[in-house]
Amino acid sequence: TDYQTILVEQRGAVTLLTLNRPQALNALNSEVLKELITAFAAYDSDEGQRCLVLTGSEKAFAAGADIKEMQAQGFADMYASNFFGGWERVTDTRKPWFAAVAGYALGGGCEVAMMADFILAADTARFGQPEIKLGVTPGMGGSQRLTHAVGKAKAMEMCLTGRMIGAEEAERAGLVARVVPAAELLNEAMKTAETIAGMAPLAAIANKEMVNAAFEQGLAQGIRFERRLFHGLFGSEDQKEGMAAFVEKRPGNWTGR
Ligand code: HXC
Repeated sequence: TDYQTILVEQRGAVTLLTLNRPQALNALNSEVLKELITAFAAYDSDEGQRCLVLTGSEKAFAAGADIKEMQAQGFADMYASNFFGGWERVTDTRKPWFAAVAGYALGGGCEVAMMADFILAADTARFGQPEIKLGVTPGMGGSQRLTHAVGKAKAMEMCLTGRMIGAEEAERAGLVARVVPAAELLNEAMKTAETIAGMAPLAAIANKEMVNAAFEQGLAQGIRFERRLFHGLFGSEDQKEGMAAFVEKRPGNWTGR
């Protein structure tokens, strides 16, 4: 398949999937989502492929959903298109996949990393939910998955202030499985993926389903609730202001409307 925004490589039984929009720090737009849906479906249905690694660049796993794509949209646009509802197609992947994160994993980038079965982090990784600075909220599961992962106190502080946390803090908080030196990230990811790929395929799916069952009680409702509120903010003035301020590289001037 001819992809524009991602790179897909098969290394033995491991699929290495690399986000590839360097000019936008791998910001996630509709094209990226469309290509990821296709690539994850191809992985899931290929019996020769047993583990998938999703990674980005040294500087950014992904710096969020694409602000420039969202900026002009209103509530009706977001709600009618169920904007980013397609991510469920990625999280429906039955076979194991994990995120190998270096650099920024912000907003939607943090949220996609949290969709993975687990996160392997480089010591350069930085996680955050800065959507509040744009006058909105997480919209791809962040308010739910972050809270499950790190607990209310840290999730609330991160969502209300937009503060980023580094790899060490993320590991202490239970957000990432393991931290490795940045130069080792890809090697460690491939070794880990090969270990998983060497296991009985059905047992891998069953283990994944079980751990997710423990994690997911109430998650689906939480994510729908989050998405509707997120869509709703696109009817506010402060969403237009926050996103315009980002594009114009100036601080936001809030009206509270
Ligand atoms: C669109 C983005 C982007 C984004 C970066 N870029 N993040 N474009 N959407 N999320 C673009 C910049 O506009 C710039 O393009 C280029 O990438 C390089 O970014 P710089 O800002 O120049 O890099 P740097 O100074 O190193 O700062 C890195 C950064 C900063 C701290 C990560 O880019 C940043 O704050 N980005 C936004 C992070 C964010 O708010 N994420 C949440 C998005 S909302 P030009 O053309 O100017 O060179 C979200 C909602 C999720 O994710 C819910 C969806 C349903």
